[in-house]
Amino acid sequence: SRAEIGVTGLAVMGRNLARNLARHGHSVAVHNRTEAKTKDLVEEFGNEGTFVPAYSAEEFVASLERPRRLVIMVKAGGPTDAVIDEFAPLLEPGDMIVDGGNAHFEDTRRREAALRDKGIHFVGTGISGGEEGALNGPSIMPGGSKESWEALGPLLTDIAAKVDGEPCCSHIGADGAGHFVKMVHNGIEYSDMQLIAEAYDLLRKGLGKSTDEIAEIFQGWNEGRLDSYLIEITVEVLRQRDAATGKPLVDVVEDQAEQKGTGRWTVQTALDLGIPVTGIAEAVFARSLSGSAALREKTAGVLPGPAASELTGDEAASFADDIEQALYASKIVAYAQGFNEIQAGAAEYDWDIDLGAVAKLWRGGCIIRARFLNRISDAYVQNPGLETLLTDDYFRDAVAAAQDAWRRVVATAARLGIPAPGFSSALAYYDGLRAQRLPAALVQGQRDFFGAHTYRRTDKAGSYHTLWSGDRSEVQTS
Ligand code: 6PG
Repeated sequence: SRAEIGVTGLAVMGRNLARNLARHGHSVAVHNRTEAKTKDLVEEFGNEGTFVPAYSAEEFVASLERPRRLVIMVKAGGPTDAVIDEFAPLLEPGDMIVDGGNAHFEDTRRREAALRDKGIHFVGTGISGGEEGALNGPSIMPGGSKESWEALGPLLTDIAAKVDGEPCCSHIGADGAGHFVKMVHNGIEYSDMQLIAEAYDLLRKGLGKSTDEIAEIFQGWNEGRLDSYLIEITVEVLRQRDAATGKPLVDVVEDQAEQKGTGRWTVQTALDLGIPVTGIAEAVFARSLSGSAALREKTAGVLPGPAASELTGDEAASFADDIEQALYASKIVAYAQGFNEIQAGAAEYDWDIDLGAVAKLWRGGCIIRARFLNRISDAYVQNPGLETLLTDDYFRDAVAAAQDAWRRVVATAARLGIPAPGFSSALAYYDGLRAQRLPAALVQGQRDFFGAHTYRRTDKAGSYHTLWSGDRSEVQTS
């Protein structure tokens, strides 16, 4: 008998996804470019379910029931195109290719269109949760056609993480919508990680806390509204001791953060869409700055800073609590910005994305899973057209309650010379949204002065230009 679904690309993510499917009673054809990985998988985990090993593309395709469901789990970019080119000629109309990698949504749109011409459904699918998630229940964000969702939905929801009995998987929208949402997920992931790192830095430098004390503090926070996977693993990372030196591991790890590209894509896309995702951008740039080794070598310990670098007395006593509040408020801003990018992407690419459903499927399985996603989901269920999370009753009140502490943290960070780009840019964004009048009117005046770029007036319609180098009278240009 034939397999229900096939997985090609058996590196750790592919292998774990195949095992997850098999453990849920689905027969899985497995294939890899090199035979050894296929053999190893069947040998090691064959007892977990029904695996059908295939040692060539033809054998793999022949082993699948029709319409075929074929999952590719290979590196994004060229390798994905190569695998598609290898399999597409062997498929028939109605068959489905699921790309579970971190593909750029524009690539997914291109591939979807090309395969649609051949009657093949290409389903770009965001999968989050790392190795562990792939095996025990990831968060799954499929794009692609409605027909493909009908055929794939039952399988995908079956292997996804569950929260309150609900699967962390739903159809996001057509063509690249799934990979777009996964991209923004990763952008928010970057932002979340950066904010946690800034909190750590402020506790360490501003309060002189030890790594163990900071782990304690985070552990406490994780029992409240900040409860999240990323804080939980932060505690574990901070508690890890280096066997060789006996020091906390974080003290011996090189302080240069790497990146594979999804955070950068989120910002590049946001720039094109005109959506300020300042929290994500600062997180990407903070990684770049950390990685600028040659530059930092010339500047670290050389550029002068403020006299005081640590808090004392009363200010010190309440600072950890202030940081918790700043972290919560900044995190709300990061999500607000990320959801705005999804909204803008949906409008641009004509995707019908249910933001409440996105928040729901991020509650479990994925890297940014967090207690407060329930609140985000509620906000969009109550008001699907919400312009920003920051005006939702719950979040508006939460930020209002946190803002004094948040402002103290940003001011203190500046005073002590501790970089907190995530906290401060989030606050600047919030204050930007609050402002009745922004200084953009002056920028318009400048543009009109040097380039006759014209401006609009608050009191009447039309475009205007001031004759700056003439008699400085105003003319209406349209
Ligand atoms: C996930 C993660 C994952 C991503 C890593 C690496 O949702 O499981 O987002 O998809 O590849 O987090 O990202 P960087 O290497 O860019 O930090």
